[in-house]
Amino acid sequence: MQFFSYKDNELHVENMAIEKLAQQYGTPMYVYSMNSLIEKVKAYQQAFADVKHTIFYAQKANENINILKLMASLGCGADIVSGGELFLALKAGIPANRIVYASVGKTDAEIEQALNAGICAFNVESPQELEVINEMAIKMDKQAPVAIRINPNIDIHGHPYISTGKSMNKFGIDYDDSLALIRHAANLDGIKIVGIHSHIGSQILNVEYFAAAAQKFLQMVRSLQKSGIKVEHVDMGGGLGVNYKSIIPEYAEDSLVIPTPVDLAKKVKHVLKPLDCEIYFEPGRSIVGEAGALITKVLYRKETNVKKFIVVDAGMSDLIRPSLYQAYHQIVPLQKIEGDLEKVDVVGPICETGDFLAQNRNMPEVQRGDFLAVMTAGAYGFSLANNYNARPRPVEVWVDGDKAEIIRERENVERFLE
Ligand code: LLP
Repeated sequence: MQFFSYKDNELHVENMAIEKLAQQYGTPMYVYSMNSLIEKVKAYQQAFADVKHTIFYAQKANENINILKLMASLGCGADIVSGGELFLALKAGIPANRIVYASVGKTDAEIEQALNAGICAFNVESPQELEVINEMAIKMDKQAPVAIRINPNIDIHGHPYISTGKSMNKFGIDYDDSLALIRHAANLDGIKIVGIHSHIGSQILNVEYFAAAAQKFLQMVRSLQKSGIKVEHVDMGGGLGVNYKSIIPEYAEDSLVIPTPVDLAKKVKHVLKPLDCEIYFEPGRSIVGEAGALITKVLYRKETNVKKFIVVDAGMSDLIRPSLYQAYHQIVPLQKIEGDLEKVDVVGPICETGDFLAQNRNMPEVQRGDFLAVMTAGAYGFSLANNYNARPRPVEVWVDGDKAEIIRERENVERFLE
């Protein structure tokens, strides 16, 4: 279903005209469709309904506490990467035994916090981390549930900053070394091997890469079984891509076909089913990405000899993805504009040349005061937002049908004095 669409030439989120929200709450503003979030979670749950599975929402994608509470109410666990995320997940009501914890740099304090909470699995990323967790668990008279994060050396051909599953990346243990490490771990008193884990990358548009990872898992679990090591779960990580290019077809420069959880399930279910393990997934972007947009207002039009700029009130402090990953987000006016397109850069107010939301983009002729929506900004939008140039982070609002609610207030500048 389309949760963002034009009705009578006005962009709506569900049944709410977004411009009304922009007038009421100001810009920059993140707006989310609650029913899109629900639909995305259910799509995963339905695609895997016939096998034992759990969806661990990768909360780094968007950790608004209300979104986390919604995930908890839908039966999701959480994929976390820090003590702060553990704190938030528990506050949101996600039970500790539905929390998996990856990170190449878990501190001693974070390991202790997670052991005390009783999480479902530490996704262990190095031999030394394994030893530290073992020693700490023994001292605390506990056994740590561990899944070794395997780096399967699969190239997803994505942006280098969001590729994680190649040997040159810092994540996980080389596939060829993992078998020996798991055998070693299985003999440690403070460790209980519960699963294996991998996360091969993000914004993956070809589900064949997941099929390749599943094949590697199949071989690995079979070898472990032969050594008498029982694995309860196989964690496939996250990574399914979303539609950055044609979510609003009226203004699309390009079209994109996005794989669904059903496509993913078709590729991995039959491979993993014979293992009799529970399947874990850790989707982040594919749950929240398309459910959110960043709303901004045009401040100025500006022209040099060679370029036209549209200066808006949102910048890289609000949405860093274009600056950091050369990411493409569709940018569309809240009120449809007829007429010719013009080639522009959409830039923010921040004192950096790298502060842009789009470069060389064909856009309708927008004017000072017009509102724009930067689409597919629900994932890694607000969660990567910062206070550079002493800019308060934006208000977040979600919409359910024709009802809107603030789910995080715009920050106040007084906060900068804390
Ligand atoms: N599991 C692990 C261990 C991860 O590291 C990640 C993301 C996920 C799950 C969720 O992946 P997703 O389903 O969201 O693709 N800031 C970047 C993305 C970084 C992804 C980091 N890890 C961006 O804005 O594109």
